[in-house]
Amino acid sequence: MLKGKKILIGVCGGIAAYKICELVRELQRENATVRTVLTPGATQFISPLTFESLTGVPAPVDLFKPFLSEIEHIELATWPDLYVIAPATATSIAKFASGIADNLVTATFLATRKDVLIIPAMNTGMWENPATQKNVSLLRKRHISVVEPEYGLMASQLEGKGVGRLPDQPIIVSHIYRKLWQKKELAGVNVTITAGCTREKIDPVRFISNQSSGKMGFALAEVAAAMGANITLIHGPTHLKPPTDVNIVAVETANEMFLATKDNYPTNGILIGAAAVSDFRPDVISEKKIKKENAASVIPLKQNPDILFELKELRKQSVHIGFALETNDEIAYAAKKIASKGLDFIVVNNPSEKGAGFSVNTNKAKILFPDGTIVDLPLMKKIELAVEILKKAMIIHANL
Ligand code: CTP
Repeated sequence: MLKGKKILIGVCGGIAAYKICELVRELQRENATVRTVLTPGATQFISPLTFESLTGVPAPVDLFKPFLSEIEHIELATWPDLYVIAPATATSIAKFASGIADNLVTATFLATRKDVLIIPAMNTGMWENPATQKNVSLLRKRHISVVEPEYGLMASQLEGKGVGRLPDQPIIVSHIYRKLWQKKELAGVNVTITAGCTREKIDPVRFISNQSSGKMGFALAEVAAAMGANITLIHGPTHLKPPTDVNIVAVETANEMFLATKDNYPTNGILIGAAAVSDFRPDVISEKKIKKENAASVIPLKQNPDILFELKELRKQSVHIGFALETNDEIAYAAKKIASKGLDFIVVNNPSEKGAGFSVNTNKAKILFPDGTIVDLPLMKKIELAVEILKKAMIIHANL
């Protein structure tokens, strides 16, 4: 997603500054070129040498002792595709709002004509203070993106929980994707995605499920959001953090997932069945925990609705995409699923192939079309596979 992109991070003086090292690494893993610039306050929390070692270039701090060029803030202001300020402290936000350029981070902010993303992190009182809120709303009125800080445990043990935490890294990365994905190819298009596993209760403590983590469906939601789509992400139980600004419907059973998909059917849009839906559920759910001495050795099962099959008739209005996880005869099984579920294409993978299993961030897939065409994709990140899938969906959608 970030290949060839240049990202400048302005680090301000807050305890969350240490979290930016891992952010730099993550952006580099996404193939972005990253540079950093620090306020003098930031150096109280973290050394410029740390960032220099991570990025391979100087991490300048001093406005009057340039490292890279004579007029450093101008060079820094013109270099990036995106200037991310993280953590943005209350003081730096106040300086941005009032045009004070007294250090390299603030001077670069004032000088840049590039896109800026401000990610605040501070003590709850400072965040909620009317002065900070006024500065934030002033910046937003000027169309500068200021991310909402998160609620959670604060650095000071005395404070306990509050609003003001730096958002978790996947959330920051997701904001960066959306800023840098300039072409909003799916603007206004409704996209509904099912993701993860479903759980079918046997009794109050036991259930039938599978190993699906939801990573592929969440990656699809992330990319579709960056492309400007209106997304509903219907997911089963997962530990993943949902992307921001996406309509989330959390469900447990296949039946609930079916009803939620029907209710959120993307008319004239794109439906993607990335969930590993349990095909069966216990015929009877025991109200009490089953004791082993009374347990039968066989659990009678009932078939669950097949979501894509049930919605097949609606396909004339929308693009339908399925997934098939097969351990053998992939293409033959996938071809059957295209026909029976009436799909525009199906993404096939084999979990026993290296890098293509559950819970990993990569996938190796083939895309099969109803006319038998196969696109054999190399091993790639799930986020990259999501781009491939959505680009193909987009072409079909444009010809609906
Ligand atoms: N699917 C669905 N509802 C179900 C089962 C599957 O919508 N009850 C969707 C999945 O989200 C996926 C596609 O159908 O996009 C294929 O799912 P898969 O589990 O591979 O196929 P099944 O039809 O369940 O067949 P089998 O388990 O026998 O391979």
